[in-house]
Amino acid sequence: MTEPVLAVDNLRIAFPSAAGPVEVVKSISFTVGREIVALVGESGSGKSMTGRAIMGLLPSYAKVEAKTLSFDGRDLTGLTAGAWNGLRGSGMALILQDPKFSLNPAHRVGRQVEEALLLHTRLSAKERRDRALDMLEKVGLPDPARVYASYPAALSGGMGQRVMIAAMLVNRPKLIIADEPTSALDRDLQDQILTLLRSLTEEFGMSLLLISHDLQQVARYADRVLVMRHGQIVDRLAAAELSDAQSSYTRGLWSARPSAATYGTRLPTLDATGVTP
Ligand SMILES: Nc1ncnc2c1ncn2[C@@H]1O[C@H](COP(=O)(O)OP(=O)(O)OP(=O)(O)O)[C@@H](O)[C@H]1O
Ligand SMILES: [Mg+2]
Repeated sequence: MTEPVLAVDNLRIAFPSAAGPVEVVKSISFTVGREIVALVGESGSGKSMTGRAIMGLLPSYAKVEAKTLSFDGRDLTGLTAGAWNGLRGSGMALILQDPKFSLNPAHRVGRQVEEALLLHTRLSAKERRDRALDMLEKVGLPDPARVYASYPAALSGGMGQRVMIAAMLVNRPKLIIADEPTSALDRDLQDQILTLLRSLTEEFGMSLLLISHDLQQVARYADRVLVMRHGQIVDRLAAAELSDAQSSYTRGLWSARPSAATYGTRLPTLDATGVTP
């Protein structure tokens, strides 16, 4: 494996409550090199909180502790708000589920794709536009110039997610955290978007932490898989080893693939022995 781009050692996240702090992430450790690592687990297991802690995006009342939290050799614990802002959009970027909420309906696509370049580089307006158009083409959008000039309302869900990916990758971050990047899309589009993310990750030599509750799906795109449950990492294995996973919990998740019929509903509850009826 290559030198880790992201190193997480003993990360704990707690939220205050009337009954005292509630630990939602309990001392997890992992690294991500130039590869795709899937972070999977049932709803509420702590995946998104982990992703947000790495991006410095947890609310200030969350208590985040780590022995090591480092990105590209740089210690992330105790960064100032300004330093986090500098890092997001240049070194690391977060892709979220639904472009409807991530894209600003009042601004044209081009401006939003260029934003990271405007904030984090000294490129000229023409250079920014060229980079944005190039990126819109790379994410597979036909007629990038037309998309560049459109408003988000003119885009389909799949196009919107491609625009989001273009906006996140335009400044060539080293690390992408994609939190359920395709859950809002239908199955065919999900595969297209994950295929795109995988090929851009390889082309740009990036690291991708792919957060999902759909183990079967992400397994086809990831190199390694971390299984989370109740705030802990309970299994870690190469994606290729999944079909004969030893852990009964992982095997349960593996067979609990949401189908079109259950899409949008809760997954079966899992216990240590697998799927409960
Ligand atoms: N602001 C908050 N205050 C208190 N608890 C919170 C807060 N935000 C999230 N939690 C709790 O933290 C736990 C982990 O949540 P998280 O969003 O990381 O789960 P997840 O694995 O991403 O689930 P999903 O698959 O549903 O997205 C959950 O039990 C959730 O209720
Ligand atoms: Mg989540």
